[in-house]
Amino acid sequence: VNFAERYGQWAVVAGASQGIGRAFSDEAAARGLNVLMIARGQEALELSAADIRARHGVEVRTLAADLGSSSVGEVVANATDDLEIGLLVYNATVAPAGRFIDVPLELQLQSVAVNCATPVILCNLLAPKMVQRGRGGIGIVGSNGGTQGSVHFGTYGAGKAFGWILAETLWAELGDAGVHVNHIFVGPTSSPNYDAFKATLDPVLCGRPDSDDPLDRARARLMDPSSPQEVAAALYDQLGDGPVCYSRPEDAWISRASLDLPRAEAVNVWRALQETSTVRPDRQAR
Ligand SMILES: NC(=O)c1ccc[n+]([C@@H]2O[C@H](COP(=O)([O-])OP(=O)(O)OC[C@H]3O[C@@H](n4cnc5c(N)ncnc54)[C@H](OP(=O)(O)O)[C@@H]3O)[C@@H](O)[C@H]2O)c1
Repeated sequence: VNFAERYGQWAVVAGASQGIGRAFSDEAAARGLNVLMIARGQEALELSAADIRARHGVEVRTLAADLGSSSVGEVVANATDDLEIGLLVYNATVAPAGRFIDVPLELQLQSVAVNCATPVILCNLLAPKMVQRGRGGIGIVGSNGGTQGSVHFGTYGAGKAFGWILAETLWAELGDAGVHVNHIFVGPTSSPNYDAFKATLDPVLCGRPDSDDPLDRARARLMDPSSPQEVAAALYDQLGDGPVCYSRPEDAWISRASLDLPRAEAVNVWRALQETSTVRPDRQAR
């Protein structure tokens, strides 16, 4: 069976207007699904949707909504009432940067809402219907930042760990009903911001991809970011091979190395990775 037949007619991509989320929308359309794209900024959303519609000839709807708002469940329920949602990709994130005690509480709680509460709300809304139909897929987008304490990105990393554990649980509970669940550990990925950050890296410090030292490997990965398209294809190609997958084989190596280290060392590798850059924390990779 093809992708659309396996999962169902419509994909919902949460956090869809740019970057990796736009690539998830584009790749779902390329694989024959209609797409409901969600993000806050209406203009960017409409532009991306128009482009995807034109290139793939599928139906593309947009929903301008804040995935951090407490009414998000109701808003998405109304927008999906008449649709068979076969695939949910939860890609949105809020990633406040800086020392925990310097980040305003309001921003931290927004991050918790977008990274933790809303995936629960949307899975609660859409997964029961997938189970009833006996088919469906859920992709949760994570980060290597979610495998250890994440200096400068504490709330973000904790939220990414939440998504990972949620996905593993859903994988175990829904698989027998024909619903594929997978969590993708995403490594550094190109974007205009990322590419500006990359230009500040020291090529010697970040030029040891074959080293057995996790910090060297993580630094080398910074120099060789994935494309958003590569990340989207990696998740869709591996959707049935959960509970976790990686955007690249190196990301599997780096995540496993972090989990194998004594915790203090794992946290210190991440801290050193953050210090690789010469630019301010809110421009750094996450
Ligand atoms: N880029 C990387 O190097 C990297 C590395 C590891 C993991 N990841 C993960 O990959 C995912 C995508 O990252 P990205 O770099 O592509 O992100 P991005 O460029 O910042 O795009 C995020 C998307 O989510 C939307 N969004 C953000 N907050 C939202 C909210 N409150 N409500 C609704 N939509 C919202 C944004 O649109 P609006 O702002 O208009 O709402 C945008 O469409 C994230 O889960 C991130 O953790 C990325």
